[in-house]
Amino acid sequence: MKDIVSTKEMLLKAQKEGYAVPAFNIHNLETVQVVVETAAEMRSPVILAGTPSTIKYAGADYLISIASTAARKYDIPIAIHLDHFEDVSLIKNYIDLGFRSSMIDASHEPFEKNIETVKEVVEYAHKSGATVEAELGRLGGQEDDLVVDEKDTMYTNPQSAKEFVERTGIDSLAVAIGTAHGLYKGEPKLDFNRLKEIRELVDVPLVLHGASDVPDELVQKAISLGICKVNVATDLKIPFANAVKNYFLEHPDANDPRKYMVPGKEAMKAIVMHKINVCGSKNRV
Ligand code: 13P
Repeated sequence: MKDIVSTKEMLLKAQKEGYAVPAFNIHNLETVQVVVETAAEMRSPVILAGTPSTIKYAGADYLISIASTAARKYDIPIAIHLDHFEDVSLIKNYIDLGFRSSMIDASHEPFEKNIETVKEVVEYAHKSGATVEAELGRLGGQEDDLVVDEKDTMYTNPQSAKEFVERTGIDSLAVAIGTAHGLYKGEPKLDFNRLKEIRELVDVPLVLHGASDVPDELVQKAISLGICKVNVATDLKIPFANAVKNYFLEHPDANDPRKYMVPGKEAMKAIVMHKINVCGSKNRV
C-alpha cells in the first residue's frame, strides 16, 4: 500500500532536474488538506513540515495518520518531516512511530558537537530508511519557539560544509546564506557566491530555510544555484489568519468552523500554488 515516503528520492530528483521541492509548515488537519490537495492538483511532490511545537500541539500520532491517509489518497510523493528538532531522543521516538524525514538542528552547538549529535541521528534514522537534514551556520529570526538574535546568526562556511557532510553522512544540508525565519526588516540579501561555493564542494541536496518574504526572483536564483528544498511557514500563516479575521469581521456571530475555516484555507491555497510555481515543482510527478 502507498504511504508517506522519505525525502531521499524526491530531493535527489529535484537536484538532478534543477527545481526545488517545497516544504510547507502545517499545523492541523485543515493546513495539511490545503497543502496536499493543491500539490496533487499541480502534480508536485511535497513535504509537510512540523516543528516540535506543532507536533506537540497536534499530536505525532494524529499527524502521521493524516499524512499517511493523504499519501494513500493522492498519487504524488508526500513526506512528513520533523522540522528543527533539537532533541535527539524525540526524533528517535518519532522515527519509531513512522516519520521518515527529520531535521536535527544542532546548529547552535560548536562544530564538533554538531557533528557528533547529527551523526547519532543519521545512524539511527538510516536503519529505518529515514532521511536526515542538518544545518551548518545559523539563521536569524523566529520559527515557533526557536528565536535566534541577529547577533547570533552565522553564514555557512563552504569548506566546513564539505567536512560536515562527509563526516555526518546527512542526506541534505540546510545552508545559512542570508535568509531568516519570519518577516524581514528590509529586502533580504542572499550571498549567492557562498551558495555557489557550497554547491561546488557539497554533493547532497541543499535546503533554503526562511523562504517567506523573500522575493520570488531571489528564491529562483537560489534554486538555479543548487537549492532543492524550500521551506515556507510565515507566508502561509499570515494570509490564513487574515482571511479568518476578515470573515469574523463580516460575520460577527459566526461560530461554525466548517464555515470560518474556509476563507483561511482558500487564502492559503493561493500561496501554496504560487510557491509550487516558484519552486518549479509543478508537473514533476
Ligand atoms: P519562514 O517562516 O520564514 O517561511 O521559515 C520557514 C522555515 O524555514 C521552516 O523551517
